[in-house]
Amino acid sequence: MKLCMIGTGYVGLVSGVCFSDLGNDVICVDRDTDKINNLKKGIIPIYEPGLSELVNKNYKNKKLKFSTNLKESVKQSDIIFICVGTPTKKKSSAADLSQVYKVAQEIRNSISKFKIIVTKSTVPVITGDEIEKIISQKKSKKFFSVVSNPEFLREGEAIRDFSYPDRIVIGTKDKKSNKILKNLYSPLISKGAKYINTSRRAAELIKYASNAFLATKITFINEIANLCEKISINVEDISIGMGLDKRIGSRFLRAGPAYGGSCFPKDTKAIITTADKFKVNLSVIKSVIESNKKRSSLLLKRVFEILKGKIKNKNICFLGVTFKANTDDMRDSACLSMIPILNKKGAKINYYDPTGIKKELTQYKNVKYSKDIKSAIHNSDLIIIHTEWNDFKSINFKKTVRNKKFIIFDMRNIYSSSKMNKLKIKYFGVGA
Ligand SMILES: NC(=O)c1ccc[n+]([C@@H]2O[C@H](COP(=O)([O-])OP(=O)(O)OC[C@H]3O[C@@H](n4cnc5c(N)ncnc54)[C@H](O)[C@@H]3O)[C@@H](O)[C@H]2O)c1
Repeated sequence: MKLCMIGTGYVGLVSGVCFSDLGNDVICVDRDTDKINNLKKGIIPIYEPGLSELVNKNYKNKKLKFSTNLKESVKQSDIIFICVGTPTKKKSSAADLSQVYKVAQEIRNSISKFKIIVTKSTVPVITGDEIEKIISQKKSKKFFSVVSNPEFLREGEAIRDFSYPDRIVIGTKDKKSNKILKNLYSPLISKGAKYINTSRRAAELIKYASNAFLATKITFINEIANLCEKISINVEDISIGMGLDKRIGSRFLRAGPAYGGSCFPKDTKAIITTADKFKVNLSVIKSVIESNKKRSSLLLKRVFEILKGKIKNKNICFLGVTFKANTDDMRDSACLSMIPILNKKGAKINYYDPTGIKKELTQYKNVKYSKDIKSAIHNSDLIIIHTEWNDFKSINFKKTVRNKKFIIFDMRNIYSSSKMNKLKIKYFGVGA
């Protein structure tokens, strides 16, 4: 099939390349000329394991193309996927849909034969209706069908998640579009993915409800971790004990920093705004957001306690600064609300991240990037393990850190406190 992905970011690029690998002809479009020119040279704009190899393979065999020309790309394609960003609006908690609506306006000027227009971007309920309205102002409804197909991939596992999804959700009442999309996804369905055809509005809400639920799970275990800290229980035991119950499941049940990233923070806020519009109070999700906001201050408070309030001139090292491992995404990473405060209190921050230096941290005078783990932790008074990269799981701290009184605050509980005690390393985890 001939596909066009509009927006070549985490979702558009990954799903585009995976669709091309399944034998479709895919054009990935973006308004960012540098991004498209780099992709044509084999330079991948994001860190995602396995992505580079897959892009280069499919670009070479011409199944995958890159373009900045939306009009021409839409003309050449049968199915158009909208994959642009839907961040939080500047002055409210609602999703900013301006990129989506702009694309809808551009698409309507390029339609001359039947097209299926699919929203893969996470969009609030009724956005599909709005897109349909925008396009039908210029084109008869017989020329297009607007479908919702939310994407559930996780950064860091994106190729695997796209290729082996738990479910594929297609929101449309249009039988022809449903049949074509089911056919497009048939290689994944035959590998075991469940295919669900619902109304467009239900598909839109499934995505928000799923993200809000996962954010709730993380926040729930983080609060249980707070209780564990007071009563000498290890939260890891609670996660295992709860997670083995099939009704609960072990995933997203690990205590750690506040949830972050490009989805949960904005999507939890957006679903509340949608519900408010319909005068429905999503009180559980509201308290999840509140609790998550407090999480970073709570972890900071522990840092102050660990350092006995003496922050000034302390060398603090952050291992990993992205919101989770295996991604370069800094959007709403928990450390972005911790590092500036520690910096203001006079700490000297060093950080190392396997995906390199971060522009979000260059503005701070005493925040420096180190090129490897060794130089990052060498002079540390306190090492904060902020992200769960495999690279951080077997560090010989004793051999590497010069200051023999160094302390570790492991916000991901990747080390065992008993082993650390045996090594006579002062070690703190979360929820223990
Ligand atoms: N990142 C994830 O893990 C993830 C997972 C599932 C769903 N989503 C959703 O998918 C959507 C995209 O997220 P993302 O992380 O890929 O965003 P992103 O910011 O990485 O990519 C969006 C891309 O769209 C491009 N763009 C914007 N307007 C355009 C236009 N008019 N024409 C062409 N290109 C345009 C931007 O230049 C950018 O490259 C969001 O709604 C997000 O909530 C994201």
